[in-house]
Amino acid sequence: MKLIPLFLLFIFISGTLSKRDYTNRLYYTLHTTDKDSKEAVEHVATTLNARLEGQVGELNQYYLISIPKQSKRTDDSLITRFNNYKHRLSKRDLDWQRVDQIQAQVPARRIYKRAPPFFTEPIVENKEEEYKLNGESQPIELPGVLEKGAYDKIKSLLDIQDPGFNEQWHLMNKENMGYDMNVTGVWSQGITGKNVVVAILDDGLDMNHKDLEDNYFAEGSYDFNNHVADPKPRLADDTHGTRCAGEIAAAKNDLCGVGIAYDAKVSGIRILSGEITEADEAAALNYEFQKNHIYSCSWGPPDLGEVAEAPEGILLDAIKNGIENGRNGSGSIYVFASGNGGANDDNCNFDGYTNSIFTITVGAIDKLGNHPSYSEQCSAQLVVAYSSGNGGYIYTTDVGGQCSDRHGGTSAAAPLAAGVFALVLSVRPDLTWRDMQHLCVQSAIPISLDDGDWTTLPSGRMFNHKYGYGVLDAYRIVELAKRFKSVRPQTSLDILSVVDEKKEKLDIPDLTPDNLNTEVDQSKAFTSSLQVTDKMLDGVGLSRLEHVTATVTIEHQRRGDLEILLKSPNGVISQLGTPRKYDTSDEGFNHWTFMTVKHWEENPIGNWSLIVIDGKNTEYTGKFIDWKLSLWGEVKEGFKLPEKEKPSIGVDDFDNSSNKTENNQSFLDQDEMTDNGSSFIAYSFILAFMVVSLASTAFIVKKYMLATSNINYARPTEDDTYEFDNLLAENESDEDESEGEGDEEEDEYH
Ligand SMILES: *[C@@H]1O[C@H](CO)[C@@H](O)[C@H](O)[C@H]1NC(C)=O
Ligand SMILES: *[C@@H]1O[C@H](CO)[C@@H](O)[C@H](O)[C@H]1NC(C)=O
Ligand SMILES: *[C@@H]1O[C@H](CO)[C@@H](O)[C@H](O)[C@H]1NC(C)=O
Ligand SMILES: *[C@@H]1O[C@H](CO)[C@@H](O)[C@H](O)[C@H]1NC(C)=O
Ligand SMILES: *[C@@H]1O[C@H](CO)[C@@H](O)[C@H](O)[C@H]1NC(C)=O
Ligand SMILES: *[C@@H]1O[C@H](CO)[C@@H](O)[C@H](O)[C@H]1NC(C)=O
Repeated sequence: MKLIPLFLLFIFISGTLSKRDYTNRLYYTLHTTDKDSKEAVEHVATTLNARLEGQVGELNQYYLISIPKQSKRTDDSLITRFNNYKHRLSKRDLDWQRVDQIQAQVPARRIYKRAPPFFTEPIVENKEEEYKLNGESQPIELPGVLEKGAYDKIKSLLDIQDPGFNEQWHLMNKENMGYDMNVTGVWSQGITGKNVVVAILDDGLDMNHKDLEDNYFAEGSYDFNNHVADPKPRLADDTHGTRCAGEIAAAKNDLCGVGIAYDAKVSGIRILSGEITEADEAAALNYEFQKNHIYSCSWGPPDLGEVAEAPEGILLDAIKNGIENGRNGSGSIYVFASGNGGANDDNCNFDGYTNSIFTITVGAIDKLGNHPSYSEQCSAQLVVAYSSGNGGYIYTTDVGGQCSDRHGGTSAAAPLAAGVFALVLSVRPDLTWRDMQHLCVQSAIPISLDDGDWTTLPSGRMFNHKYGYGVLDAYRIVELAKRFKSVRPQTSLDILSVVDEKKEKLDIPDLTPDNLNTEVDQSKAFTSSLQVTDKMLDGVGLSRLEHVTATVTIEHQRRGDLEILLKSPNGVISQLGTPRKYDTSDEGFNHWTFMTVKHWEENPIGNWSLIVIDGKNTEYTGKFIDWKLSLWGEVKEGFKLPEKEKPSIGVDDFDNSSNKTENNQSFLDQDEMTDNGSSFIAYSFILAFMVVSLASTAFIVKKYMLATSNINYARPTEDDTYEFDNLLAENESDEDESEGEGDEEEDEYH
């Protein structure tokens, strides 16, 4: 009796997990304006003659539907039908009002494993480094490791029998003392990752491997490539995920080596062994996100230094859903490998997964603590961890019960960090995704200090685009975590710039030097400044700065020619974009968001300057359009953040059915928080911005509206106000027209 309903329930909840049939069907996602609008979606699907497959993963505003493939039908025909119906029905039909977007879901290859690069690093001589500790911490003496026989003594005290442990220099380095993750002092306290689950989003996980089977967590695992429960490696080259899993949770036994958090559990989520849809990737990023705590991601857009790609729409919504609702609201911890395109001039600020404020980006260092040329640098990189290079590799488990002594690339660095975070969560499961970032900043150790890019920051810490805040040290981060006070909620401040009020695009001077030996004269570079005042910070209650993002729109005939810098009021310079020799794109930057963690805990009051240097190839030129500066950080104690009016899932999307009156109301609500002087400017400026930025008007507006506490400020000059008044008037009349034109527009659809 009981079996039947349970069985049916299973079918129901696993709707989106059923096997896809791309040969015979076409798939689409529908997005709803509110959560839990299943009935509305059912109705819409019926009208469209489509089959409702179910909700997309944990995203309660996305549903998957499908229709049979027919020779004449293309992906577009259902979208056209949807738009026609929507246009006709949404005035009177509530269900159609609640479903606001449709998107085709085509399996496509967009993301790539970050496998070890196939070349050997040149041997670089490395002088013994003196570890420099940051912050107020006093240097702590390394105990014991230099003593005679310390290695064997520690190994025996920890009862490590794994035959491969001697090759795991990244855990305890016998040859070059100190060049390891410094984890033995954590293990000796019995902190080994118990009760923490790390999901390996990759090409599978050999759950039958004797070194992994005890730590394999089937409940958190799934194969999104084959749509079956077990994420078994099935293809010849499906070795990557198993190797990453072993770095984290290979058991302490008599096989291969040990994982850095050898009592943690690992889930396998298989997404890299074939083409998958964005809907499936989104579901994977939230898969069992109350049970999987950390997502280790050693993949991303191609690392050839040619593209600038970011997760948008459903993917960005999934990541936001993870940090907001995963792990009971403390937030899923997303760990991303910085990328292996260093030798191609690739930079992790051109990858929207690694430069997201929601993820922790981890680069690689080699066995001597040097920067391997493959490891991508960027201002969004938080920390580094050990990996291949200089003839060294990472020793771990391999598929088919084997062990591997050839794992590497930033792919091998990210899982080590994920494992260290598992150690942290095992002592402090309550810490949030932002706490983990603070812990990284505060505990990482600068390394290879002879590198010229190390900068001492106003906070007293050091930062380097190649090393972030330095190498992650398991002992330091766990000790710090034990007594860490969780940070208050996040707030943010947006400042928009329209550099030229007449909306003419501004020329970016070409500064290509006459001969190769001459430096580019940066003082002549295009510069745009935005001023941050204490009043603005008060308006959003920002007390402690964390991430800074700059969203830029620049036209250029060869994007790879540009270097983009952000200079803070304290003179700290983040290199947001590097010149990239293979980036020949003529698309420039269309609202591309760069991120930097270099200004963490800096005082943001004063002028921030964006500097655009076009120092290569005189024949290619460009024009500057606008930029937006966003400061993210901790809210002041006692400051009341505005209530969210809707769950923020799906807020960034182009929403055609947005309720204009409501939008207006929400602007006014937020304006009340600002002082009277700037509120009107803030309000009217947004409308002006809507008019001038054609492509993603709604994107900007929606983001502003629903983000918890964003307030936009403009430089209030009289000219600006005049200009904006006119734009406001224009904008209003536009709206009137479009309402009146409803019927005509409908004709166009038929
Ligand atoms: C929304 O409207 C824009 C034009 O205003 C159109 O380009 C876009 O396709 C529409 N999107 C949907 C999902 O209807
Ligand atoms: C490494 O861990 C030990 C404890 O095992 C600690 O004493 C030492 O200070 C740590 N190293 C660094 C560089 O912090
Ligand atoms: C979330 O809360 C539930 C109920 O309070 C609890 O059983 C579960 O273990 C929690 N999960 C996490 C990841 O903390
Ligand atoms: C900041 O910029 C504004 C306008 O661009 C200028 O008036 C002001 O003097 C600048 N402040 C500083 C401290 O440079
Ligand atoms: C728009 O919002 C207003 C006020 O919140 C509400 O009364 C109205 O019903 C909404 N219209 C639609 C079409 O959702
Ligand atoms: C916004 O709403 C107020 C009433 O709440 C109205 O007076 C004003 O004209 C509206 N503005 C726009 C741009 O719709």
